[in-house]
Amino acid sequence: MRIAIVSGVDIDVIRHLEKHHEVIYNLDAKPDVLRNTIQGCDVLVFRSGVSITAELMAHAPNLGLLVRAGSGLDNIDLEYLKLRDIKLQRIPEPSAQAVGEMAIALMFALARNLREADQKLRQGYWAKLELESHLLSGKVLGIVGAGNIGARTGQLGAALGMKPMGCVQASTPAIAAELRKKHIQPATFEEVVTNADFLSIHVPLSDSTRNMINANTFAMMKRGSYLINLARGGVVDEKALYQELTKGKRVRGAAMDVHEREGHGKISPLAELPNVLLTPHIGAMTVETQQDIGRRAVAMIEEFALTRSKHKASSLQPGPVQIDPGFQPPAMAD
Ligand code: MLT
Repeated sequence: MRIAIVSGVDIDVIRHLEKHHEVIYNLDAKPDVLRNTIQGCDVLVFRSGVSITAELMAHAPNLGLLVRAGSGLDNIDLEYLKLRDIKLQRIPEPSAQAVGEMAIALMFALARNLREADQKLRQGYWAKLELESHLLSGKVLGIVGAGNIGARTGQLGAALGMKPMGCVQASTPAIAAELRKKHIQPATFEEVVTNADFLSIHVPLSDSTRNMINANTFAMMKRGSYLINLARGGVVDEKALYQELTKGKRVRGAAMDVHEREGHGKISPLAELPNVLLTPHIGAMTVETQQDIGRRAVAMIEEFALTRSKHKASSLQPGPVQIDPGFQPPAMAD
């Protein structure tokens, strides 16, 4: 099989797959380069940062499997997959711990003013008495999107003595019970936003979540609260956040791992603000997480290869001979 890998993956994925398949590994996401990379491939492996459009996939008539080495589906034309009967496999589970830990790391960094402390000290300034710090313990951790990743973040917060509360898009008694088991108080979106000291965002990007965290949300938040976004850039209205952080009175600081515009050379407008912490979409980027995702990706691809080769073999087998009812055997020569 021909396998195109167009996003960063653990190196063992390539080592394993190369033993049995042709692997094309190219991280250049420019549309014309991508088109060439995926030409003739059976499997496409990718993450965020590339747009898997219908136009792109049309260049790979043999494409049968997309491996989304992570969670988000916002960069894929899902309708086209149905038209072509292309299978999509996600690998969302391993990211939960990594993103949860990153959310906690960002909360600590915001609450203890680590960015400013580090910056000032590098300039020889001893800001010991000026840097206002806060504990996480005892604070309300509001989780918007308490699914796989959000709920894990809540559990980690609870372990630190935080008071997690979370909302999901469509709650049921079973979901609420699951959240309670994880020490997360089920709540509505409004309850989460108005009570949170730390508001952590974990919803996928879709038409219904685009800019869902906006000026109205900030107006509902507590004075001195913090915003953490590890979901997708488009979920938080960056212009409204800029306004809030410069002129508003409620959000004290924000940590953004995801951005409206991502990639080399793109600088967030929030970069000029001192009360913002910016990271390059690294929530799931721990070595352990990527190795786990890599192992699962290889297993999925090998299973697909097996199914495809069985299918090919069976379509090459001569089927039962169909006899035309009007067929007359030729007379035997003597
Ligand atoms: C994901 O959706 O899995 C994460 O955002 C990680 C990524 O794709 O880079």
